[in-house]
Amino acid sequence: MKIELKLGKAEELKSEALALGLFEAQGLSKEAKLLDKRLDGAISLLLKNGDFGGKANQTAVLYPKGFEFKRIILIGLGKKEEFSLDRIRQAAGTAYKKAKKLKIKNYVSFLHGKGQKGIDFEASAQAVTEGTLLSAYHLDQYKTEGKEDLFEVESMTIWDEDRTKKSAIEKGMKTGEISSWGTNLARDMVNHPSNFMTPTRMAEIALNLAKEYKFRCEILSPPDLEKLKMGALMAVAQGSKQPAKFIIMEHMPEKKRRGTVVLVGKAITFDSGGISIKPSEGMWEMKGDMAGGAAVIATMASAAREGIPVHLVGLVPATENLPSGTAYKPGDIIKSYSGKTIEIMSTDAEGRLILADALGYAQKYEPKALLDIATLTGACVIALGNVVAGLMGSDQQLLNKVKKAGEKTGERVWELPLYKEYEEQIKSDLADMKNSGGRPAGTITAAAFLKKFVGKAPWAHLDIAGMDWEEKGKPYIPKGPLGFGVRLFLQFLREWGRS
Ligand code: BES
Ligand code: MN
Ligand code: ZN
Repeated sequence: MKIELKLGKAEELKSEALALGLFEAQGLSKEAKLLDKRLDGAISLLLKNGDFGGKANQTAVLYPKGFEFKRIILIGLGKKEEFSLDRIRQAAGTAYKKAKKLKIKNYVSFLHGKGQKGIDFEASAQAVTEGTLLSAYHLDQYKTEGKEDLFEVESMTIWDEDRTKKSAIEKGMKTGEISSWGTNLARDMVNHPSNFMTPTRMAEIALNLAKEYKFRCEILSPPDLEKLKMGALMAVAQGSKQPAKFIIMEHMPEKKRRGTVVLVGKAITFDSGGISIKPSEGMWEMKGDMAGGAAVIATMASAAREGIPVHLVGLVPATENLPSGTAYKPGDIIKSYSGKTIEIMSTDAEGRLILADALGYAQKYEPKALLDIATLTGACVIALGNVVAGLMGSDQQLLNKVKKAGEKTGERVWELPLYKEYEEQIKSDLADMKNSGGRPAGTITAAAFLKKFVGKAPWAHLDIAGMDWEEKGKPYIPKGPLGFGVRLFLQFLREWGRS
């Protein structure tokens, strides 16, 4: 799917459809009025009849006679007071879906909402691009039948009359293209089943991306992990035949601002729970327990492609968590990379173990920001559902920056209190700590565990357990993996590189 740009008069265009956004209860916009006039009042008639009211993501199609556009696809932008960048993404996603349903190969889209609520041409172009490309995501390589029925929209053309805005629009399109590409890359990794997406395959993907987009990538395998004494990662891996991998990526631009940012992502390519095995119903979803790692790999590739002026390191510990005769067991005491000992209460609290080693390893970069992302706790799904990710950490300024990036990208995060008292729950009689604090405040005690390994670095932790998979499908998020975190991280890094 390609996105193009055309500037100038409508009459110079010719296309199968034009996607035009309209606000709820606002009458016609300036652009819509011009069109309406040339269409003998067809749009105002539609509004008057009440068939289309501009409610968010509502659609209607007009078929004008002898016009440069075969169809006009009207899309509701919702109430003007509620308008936001996310509404633009949604409108663009809704337009794409409608175009696909109508089997349209190319359509033209307005820059929805530009000029509203301080949203400039660049931001609108970015949001329209993102909404379109994110909505176009699919993975069909596993289907051997019915492929001939699959229809692809070939291209979408952003159109505006104002030729002076060319570079602003192009800039937004470029940023939007990279963000969506990265997100869809992460979605693919999460979507693939665990018999394909093994730790070794994830390492290969990272290596290939590094080669293509010119960032450093080094893979540590079991003998290296042994040497480094990554005891927590090795303990989780010891029940599986798949060798664990520790993926180290580094983006070293010539121009770089501020200090080093380190991203850490949990990559359990399948989480059965291990000896503390999970119920079988819904267990397949645990193929997505590497969504954090996928987000980090995809962010590295996107940041390198874009040339974001930040020294960025990505660390992804990857392994399966399986029960077997060699698996680690409840009651075992293991020694982490940092030297701290951990008593295993549940082999299903494996994510924090592999993150402990990665966060410990991150110390050698002396990061000015250390961010981790993980499908860490079922408790986070209970607390926040599938609406927003959990956020905890040690540095309020950093947390505020993450929140801001979340608001801007629509990948929202909600802070939970990481009070000292929660540490009581993970105290162990035999070792330095336990790997589970039981059911109460499970999301926070998991973060309290991680906190023991972050050293002095300003740290933020994102629990995305509820944000790995979309059950129904939303305007620009098809049913399936979300790729959550990539756009948030990229926005965070762009800001970091600016200041
Ligand atoms: N990967 C799971 C968390 C999860 C649950 C992610 C549901 C997405 C959806 C994690 O490894 C896990 O099993 N956590 C346990 C921790 C408990 C044993 C302390 C949990 O949440 O039950
Ligand atoms: Mn688990
Ligand atoms: Zn897990």
